Amino acid sequence: MMAAILVAGGAGYVGSHTVIKLLEKDIDVIIADDFSNSDERVIHAIEAITGKTVKSYAVDLTQKEEVRRIFDENEIIGVIDFAGFKSVGTSSKAPLAYYRNNLEILLNLLSVMQEQGVYHLVFSSSATVYGNPESLPVKESDKQKPTNPYGQTKVMSERILRDLAKSDERWSFISLRFFNPLGAHKSGDLGENPNGVPNNLAPYITQVAIGKLSELKIFGHDFPTSDGTSVRDYMHVDDLAEGHVAAMEYLLTTSNKFSGFEALNLGSGKGYSVLEILRAFEQVTGKKIPFEYVEKREGDAAESFASIEKAKEFLGWEPKYTITDMCLDTWNWQQKHPNGYNEA
Ligand code: WQD
Repeated sequence: MMAAILVAGGAGYVGSHTVIKLLEKDIDVIIADDFSNSDERVIHAIEAITGKTVKSYAVDLTQKEEVRRIFDENEIIGVIDFAGFKSVGTSSKAPLAYYRNNLEILLNLLSVMQEQGVYHLVFSSSATVYGNPESLPVKESDKQKPTNPYGQTKVMSERILRDLAKSDERWSFISLRFFNPLGAHKSGDLGENPNGVPNNLAPYITQVAIGKLSELKIFGHDFPTSDGTSVRDYMHVDDLAEGHVAAMEYLLTTSNKFSGFEALNLGSGKGYSVLEILRAFEQVTGKKIPFEYVEKREGDAAESFASIEKAKEFLGWEPKYTITDMCLDTWNWQQKHPNGYNEA
């Protein structure tokens, strides 16, 4: 058996782009996903893009014996955990499902890792742990005041990792708090594929651009920002994937002798407003994107963007792509696959 990295949630938007980066470095990967918010055809896209076969398990990772089976059948040397529900809005309506699913998956992974003597895990966390930032750029040492159960599950997960690391020095964890992923694989055959009407800004805009939706609703335009619309830190999904690979490689490099827990922000370090993103997409698509201003969305911060100095220093990681790259790649994916993976 080849030593492999288990990517939990590896068929998701960020997970799948990370799997490609691992495979391109000749690192073997096992994907485990329940496909509740992704599509088995992502596996075929990954294989077509890399020319490599990927072993995948369609499993419910809240079932411990399912997790144990994956470890029994493979030589896992590290885990990247993307698995979990991730909609800010839905989490407020279904907190129990979010706490159970997101925490149970992590607890199952960690307890089976402990049984099997596997001690390296990269945890995909989120900027939502900070809630509405009190100062900018957001630093890892800033207060964590999540405004929704989704963000709380990330804070609690990091608490579990910190306490476990304190209990036994063999554990080594890096938690990556990422801001707003945007973009798609350069091939245009892998990208963000939301079910139903998109919650996130970019897929909504591109569905307007291809005529699936009539106009963008901009949530609020009297924020204390340059043009009144809210500001976020957008980063290319491939930069984000590289960050996860760099973190995994860091933990596996024995000479680093890293043990314990470290949290790092991953972002571009720059803020863009909704209107700036809309204009960038108009540039790239050559289309007018109609919009209307509507009420602010509950819990939306006026402005949020990351300090990424720690990730640069700790991992030697920094973002390579520009906002134009992000919009171009998103548009390329949307044009090639107007119905995502649901092509006939
Ligand atoms: C971006 C901006 C909206 C849609 C996201 C994910 C969350 C977490 C953090 C992973 C905001 C505005 C949006 C629309 C709009 N990701 N907007 N009209 O809210 O920053 O959070 O990143 O952990 O799961 O949701 O991203 O894309 O929803 O919104 O005006 O139709 O666009 O107000 O300022 P957000 P988003």
